[in-house]
Amino acid sequence: MLVSFHSLVLLAVCAAAVPHKPVSRAGNRIITKLTKPTPSKRAYNILAHDQARVQALGKAIPSSKTPSSPEAYQPLDNQEFDYTAPVCIGNDSTIYNLLVDTGSSITWLGAKEPYHKSPNGVETDDDMSVDYGSQSFEGELIINCTLAYDSLRLADDLIVNNQSIGVAKKVSTGFYPLDGVFGLGPTALTEGTVSSGSHFLVPTILDTLYAEGTIYSKIFGLGFEPTDFSDVRNGEITWGGIDESRTDGPVHYVNITDASPANRYWGFNQSISYGNDTILDSTSGIIYSGMRLCLLPSAAYEAYKAATGAEFDWRTQLLRIPAERYSELQSLYFIIDGVSFELTPNAQIWPRTINWFIGGTRDYVYSIIGQLGDRTDPGIGFVLGYTFLERFYSVYDVDNRRIGLARTPYTYAESN
Ligand SMILES: *[C@@H]1O[C@H](CO)[C@@H](O)[C@H](O)[C@H]1NC(C)=O
Ligand SMILES: *[C@@H]1O[C@H](CO)[C@@H](O)[C@H](O)[C@H]1NC(C)=O
Ligand SMILES: *[C@@H]1O[C@H](CO)[C@@H](O)[C@H](O)[C@H]1NC(C)=O
Ligand SMILES: *[C@@H]1O[C@H](CO)[C@@H](O)[C@H](O)[C@H]1NC(C)=O
Ligand SMILES: *[C@@H]1O[C@H](CO)[C@@H](O)[C@H](O)[C@H]1NC(C)=O
Ligand SMILES: *[C@@H]1O[C@H](CO)[C@@H](O)[C@H](O)[C@H]1NC(C)=O
Repeated sequence: MLVSFHSLVLLAVCAAAVPHKPVSRAGNRIITKLTKPTPSKRAYNILAHDQARVQALGKAIPSSKTPSSPEAYQPLDNQEFDYTAPVCIGNDSTIYNLLVDTGSSITWLGAKEPYHKSPNGVETDDDMSVDYGSQSFEGELIINCTLAYDSLRLADDLIVNNQSIGVAKKVSTGFYPLDGVFGLGPTALTEGTVSSGSHFLVPTILDTLYAEGTIYSKIFGLGFEPTDFSDVRNGEITWGGIDESRTDGPVHYVNITDASPANRYWGFNQSISYGNDTILDSTSGIIYSGMRLCLLPSAAYEAYKAATGAEFDWRTQLLRIPAERYSELQSLYFIIDGVSFELTPNAQIWPRTINWFIGGTRDYVYSIIGQLGDRTDPGIGFVLGYTFLERFYSVYDVDNRRIGLARTPYTYAESN
């Protein structure tokens, strides 16, 4: 199961029959603030959710010109504490809320709202399947889709005209209240997903925006902000470039790792220290925005647990320390290609005002550092979820096979 909550108030970002406007080349940001709904009262085991997603990683099939760039901005929502991209088909007003996922590359919908084909849309005879790994109670979660081509509206003035998408054949309860997934992973991950040929690659949204001339380079930036309430529009994808207003200082780039299977994803090498102590020697891992926590292998997790004096909390499945000992926490340092990215004590904890969401209490602070599951591929030495990306702006550069990270105005925020 991914998420299982009540549906939320959706605002109309995709008004019917909005006339076509050219994509903003000057790069004005399109950000709309959404209202806060009354949050749901149910707690959820976010560790199991993330571990289940990670188990699918190693299974991916192995694989293998830039003038001054226009940029286009796409706003993102934080719903039920997951980031979603609100997307419409053609001129239709139905909003599909898709999980923003750098760890997979197929964009599919239809888990909740049925697919309404636009007049230009084409549904093919090809089957497509996307494997999200072993889920705790439901067995393997495989989404069976039909391959279709249709126009997607990503923002008021940002349309991708002929995008390959998966249309779910059967409503998958495991994705409720999400409608599907917005795939931001590398194109190679789509290999083997279409039934008509195992070597058939499916163009990602980034590929199509580039092919249609909307952007001039295959690069995008991802900006999140820490928040302790849901259904807020505070995230953004910048297509074709980066949004410098979201960075504080330079973007540091690191090459995609050589190590398999992290090299098929947005993967890189890093080491991690807690205070002055190295808890993880240089290893390869990935950025995975579809997850919430930051997961480390057992040895690093145990070292972190010992250094912080945290204890495992059975109810939330997370590490906790008594609230009055929060001030003793030290920073975690992610050392990437010689540059140190500091995850402050505040950035290491789940927002205290929403401890109820994870089943916690006010008496403790809960760490966003979790343990990778037993069945994780040894080549995945860490997985950084969106709690990391809320503190650092990230850049995904296909042509140069590199990932950029920059500090943001929220890197040192005391928001949690
Ligand atoms: C959307 O509506 C406009 C104006 O009616 C029309 O020109 C355009 O072809 C429509 N686009 C799609 C994808 O239906
Ligand atoms: C998808 O198809 C596979 C193989 O045909 C099947 O085992 C699985 O149950 C299907 N999944 C769903 C959610 O229908
Ligand atoms: C959309 O792309 C598919 C696959 O490349 C192609 O077969 C189809 O003709 C395209 N449709 C349009 C309207 O360009
Ligand atoms: C990163 O990759 C580029 C291009 O392959 C190469 O020139 C450069 O030396 C690499 N940098 C590091 C630090 O390995
Ligand atoms: C990253 O680490 C792996 C081993 O974990 C190593 O094979 C590789 O050379 C390292 N460097 C890069 C740039 O991938
Ligand atoms: C970390 O190392 C620095 C420099 O060696 C030292 O000044 C500092 O006291 C150390 N901090 C801790 C918590 O040990």
